[in-house]
Amino acid sequence: MLRWLTERGTAPLVARAGDPGGAFRRDGQEYVLDPGDPEQCAQLLDAAREEQGSGAPGDGATPLRVLDLWSGRGEIGTGNDGGRPEREPVPAGFLALAHALGRSATPVELTLVTRAAYGVTGAERPDPLAACLAGAAHVLPLELEHIRLRVADVDPGEWAESGESGLRALAGPLAAEKPAERGADPVAAYRGGHRWTRRFLPLARGGETPALVPGGTYVITGGLGGAGRHLATRLAERHSARLILVGRGAEECDALDGDPRIVVRRADVTDRARMAEVFREARTRFGALDGVVHAAAAPAGGMLQFLTPGALAEGLSAKVAGTYALVDALEAAGERPGFLALFSSLGSFSGSVGLAAYCAGNAFLDTFAVHASRTLGIPALSSTGTAGRAPGWRGRWSGGTGS
Ligand SMILES: NC(=O)c1ccc[n+]([C@@H]2O[C@H](COP(=O)([O-])OP(=O)(O)OC[C@H]3O[C@@H](n4cnc5c(N)ncnc54)[C@H](OP(=O)(O)O)[C@@H]3O)[C@@H](O)[C@H]2O)c1
Repeated sequence: MLRWLTERGTAPLVARAGDPGGAFRRDGQEYVLDPGDPEQCAQLLDAAREEQGSGAPGDGATPLRVLDLWSGRGEIGTGNDGGRPEREPVPAGFLALAHALGRSATPVELTLVTRAAYGVTGAERPDPLAACLAGAAHVLPLELEHIRLRVADVDPGEWAESGESGLRALAGPLAAEKPAERGADPVAAYRGGHRWTRRFLPLARGGETPALVPGGTYVITGGLGGAGRHLATRLAERHSARLILVGRGAEECDALDGDPRIVVRRADVTDRARMAEVFREARTRFGALDGVVHAAAAPAGGMLQFLTPGALAEGLSAKVAGTYALVDALEAAGERPGFLALFSSLGSFSGSVGLAAYCAGNAFLDTFAVHASRTLGIPALSSTGTAGRAPGWRGRWSGGTGS
């Protein structure tokens, strides 16, 4: 990228990562910073603004263009584990950048380059953690008026084949990317020399074999929450389902409301060993597992510019660490259910002010569903948005509207 820009007479300022805890400094033509330090990110923005003469904060001058090739780095494209929770879902460097952007009024056009965050052509190995980063970034232009965003998703798997020439072919289009219009979807994916964007299409009804089997056995995480409880009632009433509902604060019982087909177990979905126990119990009590519904969600409010790493991790835990733990627990219990349904939200696609972790977690789920189907061999679907209106469904995310 740097070579491509330099050859065309543009001299970008380059920032590279120094040692964690090291001081912000200039090193020749480059700035060196601890990318996890919001102060240093702010210093970098100030220095860039001064050097490029982009004007003083808030003067409405030419926006500073920032190309973030750092946050979305990763090793994806070679393995099939879809990332692991050991990797930070939203890198500290990106969170620090968001904090710094929130403190400054300098107009910034940010292009965040992610790697295989989305399944587009079917050829890539989608990385759910890359989607999580994109989902967090998505809220930035909604929460900060002076920020405009483009998420440019590239497939590192393509480079393995095309090498240097493939990378060079991407440099021009990435440099030319403009931020999305306010309110428009910021995602553009580059695959095989084409630029792809997202939009909703009507779902064709019929044709699909229903995944639900009469008298089937299902585990629902977050089963005592608004959505989970409602789904459980419907499955029991309409499909004679046998269910284990899971929640951290759940009061255990073997017959919810006197119905022995509905069992409640206290478990944290991020606890693999405990979830494996739940799956084993489902088999011994009711028979082979027909489906798992992952509807557990922790409250995850907060604007990205104010979120601490701890609050972000907490907000993501049920959806990110919880999903990995579920898949591991299924393997440990020797179960391969007919489906894995991940309860996501429209926020994964549209972003939502004040719900950075929630949007990030749901974007993770959407791509995890693709990953699980393609690479783990588990039929998975992710509901982007929850359509429908149900009496009694008054989950924390519904704002009490019951919809
Ligand atoms: N309600 C809506 O309008 C709506 C719209 C779009 C999408 N959704 C999605 O649907 C899902 C459910 O939403 P909801 O409205 O039913 O939320 P909710 O009422 O807050 O229920 C979530 C449940 O998850 C449980 N939970 C949280 N962390 C957990 C963990 N680590 N392990 C096990 N259980 C955990 C909570 O119980 P404990 O705290 O006791 O563990 C709670 O009962 C969410 O994923 C949400 O993103 C909902």
